[in-house]
Amino acid sequence: MNLTLLVWRQENAQDKGRLETYQANDINEDMSFLEMLDVVNEDLVKKGIKPIHFDHDCREGICGACSLVINGIPHGGKKGCTTCELRMRNFKNGDTITIEPFRAKAFPVIKDLMVDRSALDRVMYAGGFVSVNTGGTPDANAIPIQKDVAETAMDAAACIGCGACVAACKNASAMLFVSAKVGHLATLPQGKVEARERVRIMVTQMDAEGFGNCTNYYECEAVCPKEISIKFIAKLNRERMKAVVAR
Ligand code: FES
Repeated sequence: MNLTLLVWRQENAQDKGRLETYQANDINEDMSFLEMLDVVNEDLVKKGIKPIHFDHDCREGICGACSLVINGIPHGGKKGCTTCELRMRNFKNGDTITIEPFRAKAFPVIKDLMVDRSALDRVMYAGGFVSVNTGGTPDANAIPIQKDVAETAMDAAACIGCGACVAACKNASAMLFVSAKVGHLATLPQGKVEARERVRIMVTQMDAEGFGNCTNYYECEAVCPKEISIKFIAKLNRERMKAVVAR
C-alpha cells in the first residue's frame, strides 16, 4: 500500500515544530506501524534527509516507549493496542496519516516524535514501591490472597507507563497512571503497610510535575493499551481521602 504521512518534525524543545509530508510507498500490510516508519526512514536517509526520531524499545507492547499520536489518538485508537503492535492492515491504500508526539506540559519534546516522559519515573521514585521487609519468595507465597484481590492487583499492574492516558486527557492528567500504581500496591498485603504515605507522596509529586487533575472525561481509559479501568482512579481518591483523614 502507498500512504501519505504528515509527520511532526521538531528539532528540540525550543523549536516551534511543524508537520512535514512524506510518502510511504510499497508498505506491506503485515508490517507494524514502527516498521513502516523504519521503511520511511531508510528512504529519507538515502535522500540525505534526517530520519524521523521516534521512541521504541521492546516493539511487543511491554515497555511503553512507543509514544505516538496517530490521527489524533494516542497509539492510534485500536483497542488494547500499542503503536508497536498496530499493523498497517488497519489502514487503507491511499490513506493520509497524521503522526504527532504525545503532547503534555509534563512531556517536553526531545526531538520530532520523541518526548521526555521521565516525569512519570519521578512519580514512581517518590513512592511507587514497597520498602518494608516482606521476606523472601516463600514468605510471599505463604500469604493467602483471595483470587479476586490478586486479579485486581494484576489488572492494575498491567500498566506499562506509556503515558497515553496523559496525552489523551484534555487536562493532561496522570491520574490513571498513578491510580494503577497505587491501586496495584494498596491492594496487596505487602503494600498496605505504606499505603497512606505512598498515595500522599505520589499525588504530591504528580502535581509538582505539572500533570492536571481528573475531571472524568474517560479518555484515558479509552486509549489505554492495557485497558486499565478508571475504577482505579476512584480507588486512588479513596486511598487519598483515608490518608488525609489519618493525618
Ligand atoms: S515499543 Fe515497547 S510497548 Fe511499544
